[in-house]
Amino acid sequence: MIRVAVIGAGYWGPNLIRNFAACPETELVAVCDRDQQRLTQVLRPYPGVEAITDFEQLLDRADIDAVAIATPVNTHAPLGVAALQAGKHVLVEKPLAGSVADAEQMVEAAAAANRVLMVDHTFIYSGPVQRIKQIVDSGEIGDLYFVDSVRINLGMFQHDVNVVWDLAPHDLSILDFLVGRLPRSISAFGACHANEAADIEDVAYLNLDFSDGLLASFHVNWLSPVKVRHFIIGGSEKSIVYDDLEPTERIKVYDRGITVSDDVEAKRGVMIGYRTGDVWSPHVPQVEPLAKMVSHFAECIQQGKQPLTDGESGLRVVRILEAAQRSIKAQGGRITIWDDLQIRRAA
Ligand SMILES: NC(=O)c1ccc[n+]([C@@H]2O[C@H](COP(=O)([O-])OP(=O)(O)OC[C@H]3O[C@@H](n4cnc5c(N)ncnc54)[C@H](O)[C@@H]3O)[C@@H](O)[C@H]2O)c1
Repeated sequence: MIRVAVIGAGYWGPNLIRNFAACPETELVAVCDRDQQRLTQVLRPYPGVEAITDFEQLLDRADIDAVAIATPVNTHAPLGVAALQAGKHVLVEKPLAGSVADAEQMVEAAAAANRVLMVDHTFIYSGPVQRIKQIVDSGEIGDLYFVDSVRINLGMFQHDVNVVWDLAPHDLSILDFLVGRLPRSISAFGACHANEAADIEDVAYLNLDFSDGLLASFHVNWLSPVKVRHFIIGGSEKSIVYDDLEPTERIKVYDRGITVSDDVEAKRGVMIGYRTGDVWSPHVPQVEPLAKMVSHFAECIQQGKQPLTDGESGLRVVRILEAAQRSIKAQGGRITIWDDLQIRRAA
């Protein structure tokens, strides 16, 4: 049994608490939140679990093997690094940290302490995304041409981060899981409407370029009157449409695309033909992603495995988020992530 403490019992923490309490491989020992009233309320269904208001008290507890951090984004690095240095394994909510420098510090602290650092990129543990990964890896859809993602609704406004840091980690982590590499560059636009004084964008558009023809576009928005969770992966052979709000057929694979042939007679160089084939909806097992995620965290600790969503994948997502933020502030100015990396590595 891995003995766990959850830190942060606000909106999201109770989901981690419920799953760590239910997971056969983990024992929920304690929950820590600065807000005593909130702790009392959240821990009512868990009488055996200890309530702690000071995070420091967890650090030298020999009966706690791991901590799960569900506090505001800018606290992830200080809490995570302290826990790693105290010899705890660490699970951190998305995004891994509030800056590249913080995320790098966490990855380094995990390596130095030889402890598991995992980020909760929840969708990676969901049935549809696992199935999409299998289809992409099988080669069935061919070369990746484009990814087009829309994640919009009348959102839960955050006070510490903008819509990009709040919503885009989901889509960027799915993209990272599928392609496993950083884009060459990003250009992003964003606007603040509700909270202009605090400079917190509530609408944003991100465009990523991977240098080999793959382009990815993300729209995240807290002001949309309708909720949309739509993700399209276009390939040279087939395409996948993933609609997370669809009750039964959340993934559809389209055998539809173009054929290119020489157009000798018309001398236009090439002739484009349209190919329409079958559309099918693969079976997707119904599992709670968070249940799979906490069980995977325990398995990685027990068996010394590298998490599917390890610190490095969290860092790649934070690199894109930070570059998006810089691009938004430069009114869509192109940020070359590869150049940034080289400069940082040389420094
Ligand atoms: N995986 C997902 O789908 C998902 C969904 C929502 C939120 N999140 C993430 O969860 C994290 C928390 O978000 P939230 O919406 O629950 O925030 P929240 O503000 O509702 O809750 C944060 C809690 O942390 C406590 N806290 C803050 N600093 C602390 C400290 N130093 N020690 C102990 N407690 C402290 C606060 O008192 C509060 O109760 C964020 O990183 C967010 O991005 C993830």
